[in-house]
Amino acid sequence: MLKIENLSVNINNKQILNNFNLVINNGEVHVIMGPNGVGKSTLSRVIMGDSNYIVTDGSILFDGDNLLPLSVDERAKRGIFLAMQNPVEIDGVSNQDFLRTAMSSIENKQIGLYDFILSCEKGANDLSMNKELIHRSLNTGFSGGEKKKNEVLQIKLLKPKFIILDELDSGLDVDSLRICAENIWKYKEGNKDTSILIITHHPKILEYIKPDFVHILENGKIVKTGDYNLALDIEKNGYNAVTKEDKNE
Ligand SMILES: Nc1ncnc2c1ncn2[C@@H]1O[C@H](COP(=O)(O)OP(=O)(O)O)[C@@H](O)[C@H]1O
Ligand SMILES: [Mg+2]
Repeated sequence: MLKIENLSVNINNKQILNNFNLVINNGEVHVIMGPNGVGKSTLSRVIMGDSNYIVTDGSILFDGDNLLPLSVDERAKRGIFLAMQNPVEIDGVSNQDFLRTAMSSIENKQIGLYDFILSCEKGANDLSMNKELIHRSLNTGFSGGEKKKNEVLQIKLLKPKFIILDELDSGLDVDSLRICAENIWKYKEGNKDTSILIITHHPKILEYIKPDFVHILENGKIVKTGDYNLALDIEKNGYNAVTKEDKNE
């Protein structure tokens, strides 16, 4: 589904990713872990098409097509979804209008109001989310947890086939984390080909969304790959110990 080859990315003339490689096949769940500031969010934004990040070398293929010339909207239409680390607040745009516009753009048809409201309410219900949030301005004044639940509501409605979760678990209480992660796993189980890229510091979310591969990002590239146990090892011993042991081998 996603093939990243020799990707190098700059922001403000500072190189963040350096010859980065990653292949994610249909239905796989990959995890990227790594110390603060190594470029995890940068990777997610480059895949989504944020023009602030300059690709200086390499390629990103999605279902065999070159992603780099496509706009954020075009990438969303292809089924790529980024749940941002800090979802943006847009005052004056109602959450409901935003969701309905995004749905009609992605499905390329008008979305009937009645069915739309029903699916929003069902989604909010599944997420134990206050229904009032659907009618408020997008993310404006939402608590950290409410913003993250709203991102998961978007996943349920927009039905992406490649989902990036950038620290979905940051700022979520244990119950909200479980609810969000269970909803995403359930969505994935109903859509077997959907692939997920999880960026996280903690193995807890991986108890619900079960990973096939766990990677450590450092110095602009993946320096170590393992399975769920690598995430447990990092939690217990820290990044330094885990990557040092690797370098001594
Ligand atoms: N818009 C930006 N302007 C300047 N520097 C940035 C910007 N975005 C990211 N960076 C820098 O790029 C590096 C990687 O950031 P980021 O990808 O957010 O790291 P991570 O998500 O791994 O913590 C950091 O040093 C950060 O300060
Ligand atoms: Mg980040």
